[in-house]
Amino acid sequence: MNYQNSYHLAWQYLIFLPIILSGLWSCDGGSHEVDLGYTAQRTAVFDSAAIVSAHPLASEAGLQIMRQGGNAVDAAIAVQFALAVVYPRAGNIGGGGFMVIRTAEGQTAALDYRERAPAAAHKDMYLDSLGNVIEGLSTRGHLAVGVPGTVAGMWEAFTKFGQLESWEMLLEPAISLAQNGFRISATEAARLNRYHDDFVELNTQPNVFTRKKTWKEGDLLVQPQLAATLRAIQQQGPKGFYQGKVAELIVAEMKRGGGLITLEDLRNYTASWRTPIEGRYKNYRIISMPPPSSGGIVLLQMLQMVAPYPIKEWGFHALPTVHLMVEVERRAYADRAAYLGDPDYYPVPIAQLLDPDYLKAKMSDFDPQRATPSTALQALSTQPLPEHFETTHTSVVDPQGNAASVTTTLNSNYGCKIVVGGAGFFLNNEMDDFSAKPGVPNQFGLVGAEANAIAPGKRMLSSMTPTIVEHDNSLRYVLGAPGGSTIITAVFQVLLNQMEFGMSLDSAVQAPRFHHQFLPDVIMYERNAWDSTFIAQLHAMGHQTKEVDRMAVIKAIARLPNGKLVAAGDHRNPDDDVAGW
Ligand code: GLY
Repeated sequence: MNYQNSYHLAWQYLIFLPIILSGLWSCDGGSHEVDLGYTAQRTAVFDSAAIVSAHPLASEAGLQIMRQGGNAVDAAIAVQFALAVVYPRAGNIGGGGFMVIRTAEGQTAALDYRERAPAAAHKDMYLDSLGNVIEGLSTRGHLAVGVPGTVAGMWEAFTKFGQLESWEMLLEPAISLAQNGFRISATEAARLNRYHDDFVELNTQPNVFTRKKTWKEGDLLVQPQLAATLRAIQQQGPKGFYQGKVAELIVAEMKRGGGLITLEDLRNYTASWRTPIEGRYKNYRIISMPPPSSGGIVLLQMLQMVAPYPIKEWGFHALPTVHLMVEVERRAYADRAAYLGDPDYYPVPIAQLLDPDYLKAKMSDFDPQRATPSTALQALSTQPLPEHFETTHTSVVDPQGNAASVTTTLNSNYGCKIVVGGAGFFLNNEMDDFSAKPGVPNQFGLVGAEANAIAPGKRMLSSMTPTIVEHDNSLRYVLGAPGGSTIITAVFQVLLNQMEFGMSLDSAVQAPRFHHQFLPDVIMYERNAWDSTFIAQLHAMGHQTKEVDRMAVIKAIARLPNGKLVAAGDHRNPDDDVAGW
């Protein structure tokens, strides 16, 4: 028996031992007492290595890879593939994402495996004959799909930064989970039930996700078609996805529903290495994702605009602190709408946007007593913000001190809701992240302009903000989040909670958050963040407010000065899990 096979068996044993022991082999789990074979741990301190991901089985996949000698990048790849199985709402092979890396020696890198518009896509593809945006066309069904980037991205990351010799090992945990099944959590059951009707309407049958009308915690989800797809990727690398049978199944799925992706689109997809966005906040060095993500630029703009003010003295969520941070967020998101897009297609003025004089000038009309109306910054249309935040993030630090910060997405929950017939994985609806028409909001209420207009092969603008922070030249934080447009303000606030307000990592992550994104001109705040007196004070300053259930879901690791690693998931996702040793 070769090593790979014994590894495979070890994995099956590891995953299924708890289930075997608990004697829970029936397909129907049931109550809260159900033993899933795993439990989520929200926070812990580790000596050497740490992972935070959206699901315990995915964290375990990464941990096993590190135990086998893999580094943080190897572990992040194993987590990404495992999430495609156990966290199908956002973990994916049919979507895309970004990875920011910092090696133990301090080398940094940013990998872009964002989806691309198909060659047949065009600027007005979501407009009717009167030039109005056709609702739902960019979010639901076959036309919403961008050419997936995840598999190419994982291969690129492995080729350049992986430490293991075997790519095959990285897929083994995911294949095992797909082939043999895993018991779904209560949150996954509730989500699958919520989208059941969409899955039935949009998909060919049989489909594992519609096998049951009502899923329950503990039900066994087995995905044999996905296992076969992952096996093709395991054996052939990116060719197993972008060419051959899987590619043909994707194109057949596109043809079935009027989608645009062709075999040529798939064959032409490449991931890109970008220069990370890097800048300072006091003694900290921030390393984050450049365009086509807006994350790094907007994050650094906000940090640099807030830096001259004594927010530590003012205090966490004190009125002047919140007012200042809202005004900073408003101004940075105004630039996002106007200037940010795919740098391969549009000359994003990165240096100007981060120029200290420019940022100082942006704050010259800041009034400490009054809100600046967004219309005074730029006139674009507005619409209330919906509350759906679907993406996922993984943070990893390995025993050598290498770090990987990975955010990946299908965009909405389960992407466009289409499972590729015969191949078993969800496709993204990332085309909605383009600006379908200047000034018309997308599903996150974000507006855009020419910089983010649709063009063949172009990558849509993202808010994903995988970030790594150094302090005194040493690794300090690894963090990121799902949460659409609220990702960047969440990373901003969690960093300030630690760097300025001295909170522990766990408190910094769990603390209530707020968000302003220029348009609509309203502060979103999480339920119970503020009392009515505080909200009245904000209104008196000219702010509008809107309460929401929750915002972005941070997953973070902090490296303490003594070298220990604190890992924290977020109470906003009950399945968030930390693992390490
Ligand atoms: N799909 C959400 C984002 O990339 O910002």
